Amino acid sequence: MERLQKIIAESGYTSRRKAEELIKQGKVMVNGKKITELGTKASFGDEILVDGNLIEYQEKEYYLFYKPRGVVCTTKDDKGRKTVLDYFDDTNKRIYPVGRLDYDTTGLLLLTNDGEFANLMMHPASKIDKFYVAKIKGVITKDDVKKIKSGVILDGLKIYPSRVKVKKINKQNLTSVVEITIHDGKNHEVKRIFESVGHEVIKLKREVFGFLTLGNLKSGEKRRLSSKEVKQLYNLANNKKRN
Ligand code: URA
Repeated sequence: MERLQKIIAESGYTSRRKAEELIKQGKVMVNGKKITELGTKASFGDEILVDGNLIEYQEKEYYLFYKPRGVVCTTKDDKGRKTVLDYFDDTNKRIYPVGRLDYDTTGLLLLTNDGEFANLMMHPASKIDKFYVAKIKGVITKDDVKKIKSGVILDGLKIYPSRVKVKKINKQNLTSVVEITIHDGKNHEVKRIFESVGHEVIKLKREVFGFLTLGNLKSGEKRRLSSKEVKQLYNLANNKKRN
């Protein structure tokens, strides 16, 4: 027996917090009885209805996906563009991306139907390192790198990338390739960091998330995470939160 809101969240229907609101609003029925008490316990063996929808147990699924360019990280797109879920026709439809990569960004993206896991991975306190390779317009200078390393203010908060390394400078094409590791996950974070020193990002790829790499995957391919990898990700996030 578990708390009703936990069961609803585990089914992938909605988050635990939203489930609590639905219970309080009287929208949840257990075995034909309306429940409004938050402490109520139930199991997947009970008939649980939320707004008339049957709550069913779902096996947790975790995927590592190599996102191609020109794909949106939402489950549906108003403009009819390709979404990451178009690559998961053969799997559970309730999965969704853990955070976002921009339409034109490529690389490593996690998807899951486990809301608790997704929230933990995205939480700023989890400080999971994300390693990107950025091709930018212009020749990056030592001074630009110094400025980025000393912190860039985004949305009123100072962001400190954990690592910035210039890999290539093309003085003919006037472009640079820079590796950057961040752990915050703000919208368009890498692009905004480079824009703050006057460089537009023209290509961006995420190569590493925590200890996970793309390995042998090709663009558009995916693999399931092992239960050991999922456990390691939980440990990584929880340890960083404590420190
Ligand atoms: N930072 C960005 O600017 N874009 C992404 O897609 C990811 C990180």
